[in-house]
Amino acid sequence: MNPVKWIVRILFLLFLSHFSISADTITVNHFISDNGEIVVSSGKVFALGFFSPGGSRNRYVGIWYFQVPEKTVVWVANRDNPIKDNSGNLRIDSRGNLALFQRNRTLPVWSTNISVTGTRNTIAQILDSGNLVLVQNDTGRAVVWQSFDYPTNTLLPFMKLGLSSRTGLNRVITSWKSPDDPGIGNYSYRINPSGFPQLYLYKGSAPLWRTGSWTGRRWSGVPEMTSNYIFHVSFVNTADEVSVTYEVTNTSFITRMVTNETGIQQRYTWNRDEQHWIGFWSAPEDQCDFYGHCGPNGYCNPVHLDVFECTCFPGFEPKSSEEWYIRDAAQGCMKKHGISTCRNREGFVKVSHVKVPDTSAAHVDMSMRLKQCEAECLGNCSCVAYASAYAETNGGIGCLTWHGDLIDARTYSDAGQDIYIRVDADELARYTKKRPLQKRRVLAVAIVSAVVLFLILLAFFHCLVRRLRRERRRWKNTSSFTRSSSLFGDSLGEKEIAKSRRNGDLPSFDLSTIAAATNNFSTDNKLGQGGFGPVYKGVLFNGKEIAVKRLSKHSGQGVQEFKNEIVLIAKLQHRNLVRMLGCCIEGEEKMLIYEFLPNKSLDCIIFDESKSSLLDWKKRLEIICGIARGILYLHQDSRLRIIHRDLKASNVLLDATMNPKISDFGMARIFGGDQIEGDTKRVVGTYGYMSPEYAMHGHFSTKSDVYSFGVLLLEIITGKKNSSYFPENPSSNLVGHVWDLWKEDKAIEAVDLALGDSYSGDEFLKCIQIGLLCMQEHATDRPTMSTVVFMLSNETALPLPKQPAFVIKTDKGDEISTSEGAGSVNDVTITMVQAR
Ligand SMILES: *[C@@H]1O[C@H](CO)[C@@H](O)[C@H](O)[C@H]1NC(C)=O
Ligand SMILES: *[C@@H]1O[C@H](CO)[C@@H](O)[C@H](O)[C@H]1NC(C)=O
Ligand SMILES: *[C@@H]1O[C@H](CO)[C@@H](O)[C@H](O)[C@H]1NC(C)=O
Ligand SMILES: *[C@@H]1O[C@H](CO)[C@@H](O)[C@H](O)[C@H]1NC(C)=O
Ligand SMILES: *[C@@H]1O[C@H](CO)[C@@H](O)[C@H](O)[C@H]1NC(C)=O
Ligand SMILES: *[C@@H]1O[C@H](CO)[C@@H](O)[C@H](O)[C@H]1NC(C)=O
Ligand SMILES: *[C@@H]1O[C@H](CO)[C@@H](O)[C@H](O)[C@H]1NC(C)=O
Repeated sequence: MNPVKWIVRILFLLFLSHFSISADTITVNHFISDNGEIVVSSGKVFALGFFSPGGSRNRYVGIWYFQVPEKTVVWVANRDNPIKDNSGNLRIDSRGNLALFQRNRTLPVWSTNISVTGTRNTIAQILDSGNLVLVQNDTGRAVVWQSFDYPTNTLLPFMKLGLSSRTGLNRVITSWKSPDDPGIGNYSYRINPSGFPQLYLYKGSAPLWRTGSWTGRRWSGVPEMTSNYIFHVSFVNTADEVSVTYEVTNTSFITRMVTNETGIQQRYTWNRDEQHWIGFWSAPEDQCDFYGHCGPNGYCNPVHLDVFECTCFPGFEPKSSEEWYIRDAAQGCMKKHGISTCRNREGFVKVSHVKVPDTSAAHVDMSMRLKQCEAECLGNCSCVAYASAYAETNGGIGCLTWHGDLIDARTYSDAGQDIYIRVDADELARYTKKRPLQKRRVLAVAIVSAVVLFLILLAFFHCLVRRLRRERRRWKNTSSFTRSSSLFGDSLGEKEIAKSRRNGDLPSFDLSTIAAATNNFSTDNKLGQGGFGPVYKGVLFNGKEIAVKRLSKHSGQGVQEFKNEIVLIAKLQHRNLVRMLGCCIEGEEKMLIYEFLPNKSLDCIIFDESKSSLLDWKKRLEIICGIARGILYLHQDSRLRIIHRDLKASNVLLDATMNPKISDFGMARIFGGDQIEGDTKRVVGTYGYMSPEYAMHGHFSTKSDVYSFGVLLLEIITGKKNSSYFPENPSSNLVGHVWDLWKEDKAIEAVDLALGDSYSGDEFLKCIQIGLLCMQEHATDRPTMSTVVFMLSNETALPLPKQPAFVIKTDKGDEISTSEGAGSVNDVTITMVQAR
C-alpha cells in the first residue's frame, strides 16, 4: 500500500469530518453570531441562524428550510424575547446549555436551560429532520434536549405532538402573534387526553375545531385522511403517553403543518418544479367544522346549503324554537317533552355518516364490541348514546358511551361513522315505522305551510312593485345615460371594473352596450353553445374584447338571488379560472360577461388532428396541472366550495400562452336551489364525464368532479374523446379501453401519436395511473383534488387503481332531454329529470 495515498486519504477524511461538524453543529469552540452565519444540516435540508420575520427588524434565532427560497421559518428559539440589534450570538455556555446571548448582558436571552450532568461536554446539532438536538459528546451521545419537544407554530414530519406523563412534557403547536411577531399567539393545536383523546384547535382556552377522536386509521373529523399515499400517521394512547406523529413515506417531500395567526390549521407541501408552497389541506373548512356550531344535542349537516344546517338528534327538539327559526342554534336541543328513557321499552336510533360528538367526557371501553356496547348503554339510564371507538378497524372495535350532552357532532356526505341515540318507545316506533305522521301534526304542517306561502307571495309582490317603479325611473334616465357611457368609452374599462370589484359589487352592463358589442348577438359573433346558453364574442367601446354568455331563460332564480350568486362567484379569482367581468340583467335577459380568451377551448385543439401537435407533452402536463389547481381552488381554497359538475374539454379555455382556464364554474349554483343539495333531482352534466353515482343517483360531491377530471386527463394525453370508437372493443369508451390496456401492461399504446417523441413514457404512465385512480367506481376510493395535485407534482409511489366506472351513454329507462336540444348527446350538457 502506498503510504502517500494513505496520508492523503486520512487528511481528506479528517477534513471532511471537520467540515461536516462545523457545518451542522455548534460546539464550545464554534458559535454563531448575527452576521449572516448559519449552520446547515448535513443533507442541506434545514438551516439554523438569525432572522427577522415579516416587516420586523427584531432579531430571532430560528430554523428554516435551506433549499426553499422564500424563507419559511419552522421553529423559533427566543420567540417572546427578540433582540433589538445585531449583537446576538448563539453558543454553548459554561453549564453545557445552548444559549443565546446579547452584548452587555450576562444572562442569556434564551437557553435550553436544562441541568447537564457529567462532563458538560455538549454539542448542538441541526438534523435533516429539522430537529435541533443538544447531544452529550461522550460515548453514549445521549440527546439531552431537542427542539422537537418545544414546537412553535409548525408541526414537521416525525415530530411528536402530545403528552408524556413520564417526562411531564406536553408538545403543543401555538400560532405566532402575527407574521411580524413569532411570539406566542392566541391559537393552539393540542391533544386533549380526557375521556377518549382528541386533537383540538383552540382559540385561547375555547375549542375552535376538533379533529375528533382517533378511529383506528384517521381522525374522525378529518375524512380526507383516508388516502394514505403520502403520510403514515401513528397514534399512541397508553397510560404513559398520548401522542400523534405524522411521517412521510418519502423523506424528500417537503411538507409542514402550520397553525396560522388567523386560526387556520393548514398543511402545505413544497412544489419543487414551480418553487412555491401548495395549500394541501386546511381546517376548519365549512361552518359545520366550527366547534359546537349547532349547540348541545344538535348536529350539523353541511349539505343543506339552502335549509338550516342544524338538526336535533332523534328524540330531541330545539330548546328555543324562536331562535332556531331564525337560524341561531347556539342554545341547541333538549330532550322532547314528557319522555322517559329509563327501562321503559326504549331503544336506539342510528344516525349515519357522523363525526361523533366530543368524546372528552365520553366513557370508553376498548374490550367491547358494538353488540355489547348497546347492552351496556341500554342498561345504564344515564347513557344517551353509543358508538364504536375504532370504527374503521375490523368492522368496529371498542365502545364509546355518552352520559351528558352531545356536543359538536356533524355529518359528512360520504364519510363518518354510525352513532346510536337512545330514544323512548314512541320515538322508536316513529323511526322504525317510517315516521307515520299523526293527523294533528299534518294539519299543523299544512297551516304553517299556507302561512309561509302567503308571506312569500306578499314579499314577491312587494319586490315586483318596487322593481316596476325602479324600471320606470330608469326608463326615464336611460337615453342620456347610454349616451354618456358611449362618450366616455372607458367607463366600462379596467378602472371601472377594478373599482366596482373593490366596492364588492359587480359591474353591471347595459343591454344596449352588450348588444352593440356583439353586433346585436349576430351569428357571426357566436363562439359556441354551452349547456346554459350561447356564448358570443364582443368588443366594448374601449376596444376590450369580451365573451358574453347569454343564459337560457329558464333559470329558476329571482333577480336578486341571481345577482347575489354572481357577486359571490365573481369573487373567485385564480389563474386557472376564467375571470368574470360583470353581468347584464334586463327583464328576461340574464348575461354574464367574461374575459375573452383567444385560443378557444381545449377540445378544439386536442381532438383536431391538424392542431393537436401544437401541444407537446410538457405543455399538456402544464395544462393538466393547471386544471387540477383550478378545481382544487373551487373545492377547497375558495370560501364557497364549489362543485363544478360539468368539467369537460370544451369547458377548459386556453389563454394566449396556452394556460388553461376553467369556465362555467358556479353555473350549478346560478341555476337554482334544487341543484345545490347533495342529491339532486335534476342532473346537470355531460355523459362520459359523469361519475356513476352522479349519473345514476344524482348524488354529487367533490369526488364526482374528481371523476370528470380523470376522464379529461385521459383525453388530454391520448388525444381521444371518451366517446371515441375503439374497433377492438366496440362497446367500450376511452376509459374502458385504457383500463383494458392497463390491465395488460400495455397502457403506453394509448399515447397520442401527435406527441411524437416529446413525451416521457414514465410520465405518461403516471398520468394514466392518476387518471384511473380518479375514475374508480367508489367515490371514497378516489383521491381528493389536493392529493391529485400533490401526486402530479411530486415523485411518489402511487397505489394501484381499482376498476374504473364506465358510464355508458344513455339508459333507455330514463327521461333524458338535452338542455338546448342541439348536438350529439355525448358532448352536450344534459339535464336529466329523475323520477324520485
Ligand atoms: C456595551 O459594551 C460596549 C463595549 O463592550 C460599550 O462600548 C457600550 O457602551 C456598552 N453599552 C451599554 C449600553 O452598556
Ligand atoms: C431557567 O429555568 C429556571 C427554573 O426553571 C428559571 O427560573 C429561569 O428563568 C430559566 N432561565 C431561562 C434563561 O429561561
Ligand atoms: C467530542 O468528544 C471527543 C472525545 O472526548 C473530542 O475529541 C471532540 O473534540 C469532542 N467534540 C466536540 C465538538 O467537542
Ligand atoms: C388574542 O386575543 C385577545 C382577546 O380576544 C385579543 O385582545 C388579542 O389582540 C389577541 N392577540 C393576537 C395576537 O391576536
Ligand atoms: C392563514 O390562512 C388563511 C387560509 O389559507 C389565509 O387566508 C391567511 O392569509 C393566513 N394568515 C396568515 C397571517 O398567513
Ligand atoms: C353508568 O355509567 C357511568 C359512566 O360509565 C358510570 O359512572 C355509572 O356508575 C353507571 N351507572 C350504573 C348504574 O351503572
Ligand atoms: C422520493 O422522492 C424523490 C424526489 O421526489 C425521488 O427521486 C425518489 O425516487 C423517491 N423515493 C421513493 C422511494 O419513492
